[in-house]
Amino acid sequence: MKHLMSPLDLSVEELDRLLDLANDIEAHPSRYAHSCEGKKLATLFYEPSTRTRLSFEAAMLNLGGSVLGFSSADSSSAAKGESVSDTIRVISCYADICAMRHPKEGAPLVASMKSSIPIINAGDGGHQHPTQTLTDLLTIRSLKGRLDNFTIGLCGDLKFGRTVHSLIQALIRYPNIRFVLISPEELRLPDNIRDGVLKKNHQDFREEVRLEDAIPQLDLLYMTRVQRERFFNEEDYIRMKDFYILDKEKMKLAKEDMLVLHPLPRVNEISVEIDDDPRAVYFKQAQYGVYVRMALILTLLEVEGC
Ligand code: CP
Repeated sequence: MKHLMSPLDLSVEELDRLLDLANDIEAHPSRYAHSCEGKKLATLFYEPSTRTRLSFEAAMLNLGGSVLGFSSADSSSAAKGESVSDTIRVISCYADICAMRHPKEGAPLVASMKSSIPIINAGDGGHQHPTQTLTDLLTIRSLKGRLDNFTIGLCGDLKFGRTVHSLIQALIRYPNIRFVLISPEELRLPDNIRDGVLKKNHQDFREEVRLEDAIPQLDLLYMTRVQRERFFNEEDYIRMKDFYILDKEKMKLAKEDMLVLHPLPRVNEISVEIDDDPRAVYFKQAQYGVYVRMALILTLLEVEGC
């Protein structure tokens, strides 16, 4: 049985197959409408979510399966002190596959060790968010036609932004990717990713503070919000929260075909005035999240499409 804790749990070949399957699902959704009949997905969300939880649920419903779960720790027996290990042993009796989000890094991994069903990490603290990475890769490959040979700017809260950590780990496996890390000093990429992943793998990267300086060279701009829930004090958050605002003026400095991605939710870091710019693809990205989660469920359950 396979779980998904990190994007690196999939080889490049497995990832390519998964993205091919997601594209086929997008092109022929009716072929997959009954693939998971009789199967159940449990969504155990100990932390708030809109896209990840609901796109997982939409994915399973699109496949003809059913869903059950909870959307906050408070509405589960975690509020009475039940451990993740005990919870997953019970959920294994009720469902065939489980997506789990938890504020503690490593909680889905702990669950996977006690589980008799596949566990998908749907975001663990500031650590990893592998299904967002699958979504990002599908978006880039579908809209750019490739996953190599580009310059990507990662902008915003690179310290706490788990989507950025997972995306970097996935992209370094493709040739000729140049990373531009755009953040205020306080929110720079953690050492374990900058040194332990980028430097260790001899990746081409540089750090910038001003988005205006970086944007003209970029093929892709991946914006992120400042992660309020991971700050120790509100004052620091307020000081940092509007450090970057992508607006029409800054978009004038960008290439004609630069794509703007964002895992969402957005707060202020992208002005709504650019939502209609054809380069702004973050809502399309959310749609790709459904196709790739459908492909992941089929793959982990080893179910063939019709
Ligand atoms: N991108 C993402 O993880 O969004 P949610 O927090 O709404 O799930």
